[in-house]
Amino acid sequence: MSIKIETKTGVYDVSPAPGESILFAGLAQGLTLPYECATGTCGTCRARVMTGEVDVRWDAAPGFAKLKRDKGDVLMCQAHANGGACVLRVPADVLVSDAARPAHITGTIVAAERLTADVMSFDLRLASPMAFEAGQFVVVTVEGVTGGRAYSMVNYAPSSDLLQFVVKRKPGGGFSDWLFAGDPAGAKIGVFGALGRATYGPRDDHDIVVVAGGSGIAGMMSILDRATAAGHFSRHRGRVFFGVRTLADGFYLSELSRHVTQSGGAVEVTLVLSHETPAGTHHPDFPALKLGTGFVHEAAAQALAEGAPSSLLDKPEPALGFVAGPPPMVDGAIRSLLTVARIPARLIRYDKFG
Ligand SMILES: Cc1cc2nc3c(=O)[nH]c(=O)nc-3n(C[C@H](O)[C@H](O)[C@H](O)COP(=O)(O)OP(=O)(O)OC[C@H]3O[C@@H](n4cnc5c(N)ncnc54)[C@H](O)[C@@H]3O)c2cc1C
Ligand code: FES
Repeated sequence: MSIKIETKTGVYDVSPAPGESILFAGLAQGLTLPYECATGTCGTCRARVMTGEVDVRWDAAPGFAKLKRDKGDVLMCQAHANGGACVLRVPADVLVSDAARPAHITGTIVAAERLTADVMSFDLRLASPMAFEAGQFVVVTVEGVTGGRAYSMVNYAPSSDLLQFVVKRKPGGGFSDWLFAGDPAGAKIGVFGALGRATYGPRDDHDIVVVAGGSGIAGMMSILDRATAAGHFSRHRGRVFFGVRTLADGFYLSELSRHVTQSGGAVEVTLVLSHETPAGTHHPDFPALKLGTGFVHEAAAQALAEGAPSSLLDKPEPALGFVAGPPPMVDGAIRSLLTVARIPARLIRYDKFG
């Protein structure tokens, strides 16, 4: 039974496959439906049930806190068709996009590696290639873990059957407990993607400021790879602030050092430690990386306020900001980018990991 979705710009019929959310069915049809996390936390995919009923799979989803459930509001990423006719109203402009459409693909974990005590990377070989943009994510599902989890691609290729991810362990977390329980190599995983609008492309003709907390660096690695390959840093500067707890919690440090040296210094990377005071100004093993202390969004604000490198703040054209990590860090970093780096909201792209 198809679902009718009324929007500010048209009415669309959506036919979810069994077990598929209304959001995923609409996105797979190319509809530009509103969403951010695609996994029940942000509240962005709000729709109101006008007639009929839907099934809500995760009743306790945090995103419901922002909705008027008594008026029939649902999260489309948690809503499924229940067999009857149904009309939903989405208070947004929704069009049919020409861009590559997200799809369901299966994959097998072909490699996994512990990068620090609580961070693991894994490579997923897909049954068929997926097109994606630097900074995008997929929603993964695995047998035995209820619901989907969003993970950003670390690598970049316009289309690839190999996706690389990095996951920070959340004690008691469903997916991270599963991943860290043993060697996940050989496990079958479902993905839906590519998703997300916090992306970089070579048409982005700006200096770049990155503020990432913990595994928030995942999509930023993809963005830096894409930008470096496009020659972006021969024309522009980049400032990367990467927050971890201690020196021992840093990862992807040789890759980040490579971006600094390869760009001839146009990219500056500061590893910001929240729970340790560094002995020097630069990483003892990766001297291309600067060290800072405190919360990453505060350290970024301070460094940007000091104006080094001044060209980032003095240019008439504002920089482009990318932010990812835990929600309080993301909110703080967005405030800093708006007020200190004077980056307009339209040029700040972010993913909240929760
Ligand atoms: C856009 C985006 C990109 C992300 N990228 C990364 C990344 O690259 N690396 C990384 O480490 N983390 C990333 N995260 C966070 C990641 O999605 C997980 O929240 C985190 O790994 C913890 O998952 P968990 O299963 O261990 O914890 P849990 O607490 O079990 O689950 C966390 C999340 O899973 C979903 N969930 C939980 N229970 C249910 C349920 N019953 N039904 C449906 N859904 C449920 C919810 O979204 C919840 O917030 C990203 C998040 C977002 C939104
Ligand atoms: S997109 Fe559905 S709650 Fe975030």
